[in-house]
Amino acid sequence: MIGKLNHVGVATPSIDESVKLYRDVLGATKIGEKFVMEEQGVWVCFVDLPNSQIELIEPYGEKSPIHGFLAKSPLGGQHHICFEVEDIEKARDDLQAKGATVLNNGVPRIGAHGVPVIFVHPKNMGGVLVELMATPTGHH
Ligand code: CO
Repeated sequence: MIGKLNHVGVATPSIDESVKLYRDVLGATKIGEKFVMEEQGVWVCFVDLPNSQIELIEPYGEKSPIHGFLAKSPLGGQHHICFEVEDIEKARDDLQAKGATVLNNGVPRIGAHGVPVIFVHPKNMGGVLVELMATPTGHH
């Protein structure tokens, strides 16, 4: 059912500081501009790798869901992994039929790539927050 690993989500208290790590320490050369996703309460910045992306996420606003994560892990850290799926509704229905909890009551939201995404609760995935996204068109 799952397709390509699209990205790894990394929470950080400061995208600017994290960009320095990926650029200056690891040598990443393709790093996008950070932008706000207001509804999700996050700043987002993509670090492009030859086969995938790192999605840096920093809290935006008081109600950001990332505050809780950073309270437990002040340095930041791996937050979620994202796989592509052909059909997001079918994937959602399949997961729910298997008893998994899909966040946001299973309603897909438009993610940082402009395509619908869902999140599977970590309690159903061995402690890993899993994002599934509809395969982006024109990106391969
Ligand atoms: Co993501």
